[in-house]
Amino acid sequence: MSRFLSGALCALFICSISGNAMAYNGTAGKAVYDANCGTCHNTGMMSAPKLGDKAAWAPRIAKGVNVLVARSISGYNGPKGMMPAKGGNPKLTATQVGNAVQYMVDKGK
Ligand code: HEC
Repeated sequence: MSRFLSGALCALFICSISGNAMAYNGTAGKAVYDANCGTCHNTGMMSAPKLGDKAAWAPRIAKGVNVLVARSISGYNGPKGMMPAKGGNPKLTATQVGNAVQYMVDKGK
């Protein structure tokens, strides 16, 4: 029984994380996004790439999630406008920002 249980847990959680290059969780990122990022990214305010706008996101996603996460954490002065560090909320952890970015990337595909 315990062998079955650890096998099942492995299949569900641990092994799926270690076998997956992207450790961020877009589902968990939705709440972070709604609270911190939607102000700009829902409407395209300040020329932010809109959530779900595939044409706007394709060239960004091509850079890789890790680049997007790093810029979202430190802030990014891009060709379109100014992306504030952590969306302007310094209380967010790197993982929370990463999850929010993953949510945006999932929607932009
Ligand atoms: C005050 C408005 C604003 C808020 C709030 C905001 N962003 Fe942005 N974001 C921008 C703008 C403007 C850009 C476009 C920058 C450019 O490409 O010139 C951008 C770009 C990005 C990009 C693409 C970066 C790239 O390299 O192409 C990501 C990813 C991103 N934001 C994630 C987030 C996340 C995650 C949050 C919430 C934690 C957030 N943003 C909150 C304005 C905002």
